[in-house]
Amino acid sequence: MREILEKIRSEALRALSESDAQIEDLRIKYLGKKGELTAVLRGMGALSSEERPVIGQLANEVRASIEKKIEELSQFAKKKELEQRLISEKLDVTLPGTKVPVGHPHPLSLVQKQLEDIFLGMGYTIVDGPEVEYDYYNFQALNIPKDHPARDTQDTFYITENILLRSQTSPVQARVMEKTQPPIRIISPGRVYRSDAVDATHSPLFHQLEGLVIDKNVTMGDLKGTLELFAKRMFGEDTRIRFRPHHFPFTEPSAEVDVSCFMCGGEGCRFCKNEGWIEILGAGMVHPNVLRNCSIDPEVYSGFAFGLGIERIAVLKYHIDDMRLLYENDIRFLNQF
Ligand code: DAH
Repeated sequence: MREILEKIRSEALRALSESDAQIEDLRIKYLGKKGELTAVLRGMGALSSEERPVIGQLANEVRASIEKKIEELSQFAKKKELEQRLISEKLDVTLPGTKVPVGHPHPLSLVQKQLEDIFLGMGYTIVDGPEVEYDYYNFQALNIPKDHPARDTQDTFYITENILLRSQTSPVQARVMEKTQPPIRIISPGRVYRSDAVDATHSPLFHQLEGLVIDKNVTMGDLKGTLELFAKRMFGEDTRIRFRPHHFPFTEPSAEVDVSCFMCGGEGCRFCKNEGWIEILGAGMVHPNVLRNCSIDPEVYSGFAFGLGIERIAVLKYHIDDMRLLYENDIRFLNQF
């Protein structure tokens, strides 16, 4: 029996030392429940009482040496595997990362933000209004009764007889005045709609920014000063403005406002069609009828209003010769801003 145990030990250790040793298989073969060593131990009952402890001790030694070898080998295998993983999963943290494409604001948003900043700096607050609007606020409250010819220039999309897509941001004026007693100082940027065919200067959807100031003793001089400051901030310190008489039903007097051409400084060039001036907005002193419609006493208060097209400012500022480019959203175009 002693020889058998010694043989098991030497065989097992040799088998385990071979380079392609299947450690788990060998463990089962020698140490498992049905393994060779176990089989020998089962036969110990047949030994004499003197032999039994000696063989028993030897058997334990054999088991211990095989277990030790197996433990060494599996530690080694684990280490090897870890090294392999460290090599194969190596990360070079100095490599440049994959760039995530990040967008940026659309030119119309850029211009709107700049306009907002200019007026916020003058103490205005920004007010929102509904795009689906009542005929009353879009027209009637603004001194444009049903069948008034001024409606022809602002034909829009009707949802019902009395509900439409707003054709201008001016209805926000009426909504604000109705709810707030002066002093009022607001701007209202947003989308407006008109039943116009698309071309280089028209779109059925575009953006306007409305301004409204109501207080005691507000004069045309205040309007002029405000718009001049705005023009300088928007187009440069040398910009001048001029008022041309015009008619809007909701203001009296009314004016169209031009800025001196910021390309030629007013000399006349291709950009300003040799005029030296570029039209940018409509403005005027709020009509007493509009104040009355909105429960503000025109004997106590006066005010001015203005409205400009955000697209118009954007095409001027960025020298865009076709407004459609602003809506097509071609990345090659948008990336330039
Ligand atoms: N709502 C006008 C339009 O769309 C623009 C405008 C002109 C607004 C004069 C005003 C204003 O508030 O006073 O043509």
